[in-house]
Amino acid sequence: MDFSLEEEHEMIRDSAREYAERVLKPASTEWDRAEALSDEGLAAAAEAGFMGLTTPEENGGTGFGNLHSCLMLEEINRWDAGMGVTLSVHNSLVCSLVARHGSEDQKGRWLPRLACGELLGAYCLTEPQAGSDAASIRCRAEKSDGGWTLKGTKSWVTSGDRAGLYVVYAVTDPDAKPGYGIGAFLVPASAEGVRAGKKEEKLGIRSSTTTEVLLENVFVPETDVIGDPCEGFKIALDALDGGRLGIASQALGIHRACLEDSLSYAKEREQFGKPIAEFQAIAWKLADMATSLDASRLLVHRAAWLRDQGEICTKECSMAKLAASRACNEAAQDAVQIHGGAGYTTEFRVEKYFRDARITEIYEGATDIQRLVISRKLLR
Ligand code: CAA
Repeated sequence: MDFSLEEEHEMIRDSAREYAERVLKPASTEWDRAEALSDEGLAAAAEAGFMGLTTPEENGGTGFGNLHSCLMLEEINRWDAGMGVTLSVHNSLVCSLVARHGSEDQKGRWLPRLACGELLGAYCLTEPQAGSDAASIRCRAEKSDGGWTLKGTKSWVTSGDRAGLYVVYAVTDPDAKPGYGIGAFLVPASAEGVRAGKKEEKLGIRSSTTTEVLLENVFVPETDVIGDPCEGFKIALDALDGGRLGIASQALGIHRACLEDSLSYAKEREQFGKPIAEFQAIAWKLADMATSLDASRLLVHRAAWLRDQGEICTKECSMAKLAASRACNEAAQDAVQIHGGAGYTTEFRVEKYFRDARITEIYEGATDIQRLVISRKLLR
């Protein structure tokens, strides 16, 4: 057994760290206030190759794996979780999905444009009445000449207002049993009848925009249906295995930010005549934060490695997300506590980490959905 990273992994991690410190660190607070990432920030991510990281080389990407992607996302989320989720959704829920399940024609037409950053990808599964119970979507796809016509409203779409390509799930056979009769469609934002709706005002990850996507009689040609038009739900869940690794990596990045900022503050801040790090009440919190970060990282890297081997690792991806997101929230709670009153103000970044951490236990399958997935596998 060897726990060391390969040279290529270290190279991706180091280049993501360099990008994050150069581009995200100075901009993150402003983006949080403005509730948007800058176009330049995204262009710089594309320039660094982060929008085509897991896209095969023959389709314009760099063809790296899930472990590379997790290392990249930890670094990016260390400085801006909004950019982190934007890139996670783009790479795992759109580019990797097309690479794994798309036809050669779809890969050839869409992946090069996604990989170079010309198009940002978004994933439209959730609807107002279908959150955790994703199979209960109502968005309809009706067969029409040469393709399908889509009608419905998608909600909670990451990058819904700036994406160039949506993966949209819609019911193709309303009489099928739950989880069947759902298709996965590739819908360009330029298609007639598609538009972004209401924008959510969020507690955290504010630099990532979250909107409704409205589909009013949108025609999708047969060539843009991914796989079997009745088996799209399995594609959705397979993509979410990878997506959950992205969110688990986001939790690692926020967790590490909490630890690093708390270490510096605890060494500088003096009370009762000495740095607060010298009090066991603080030092033990730091020890717990560091230990749970390492434990989470091991689970995330194991699941990413398994997925890179082509293994079915749904349980391990859910375990990684469950553990990393819970540990991240505990770390954020402790980071604010260590900073005291200062940590409750915008003068220190931990208040932002605290706000950003919360979503990691909610999206791409809430904590209890991860427990459901894991327990079903154990009890099967
Ligand atoms: N890969 C491939 N196939 C899978 C799979 C996987 N990981 N998991 C399940 N399947 C298959 C099952 O085997 C089953 O097929 P068979 O009947 O042939 O065996 C089929 O898919 C249906 O699976 P289930 O019976 O488990 O479906 P369910 O409806 O009972 O439950 C669920 C599924 C786990 C609760 C699922 O609905 C779920 O994960 N819900 C959470 C929704 C979610 O994560 N939403 C995220 C939205 S995207 C987002 O947040 C992105 C963003 O913008 C940040």
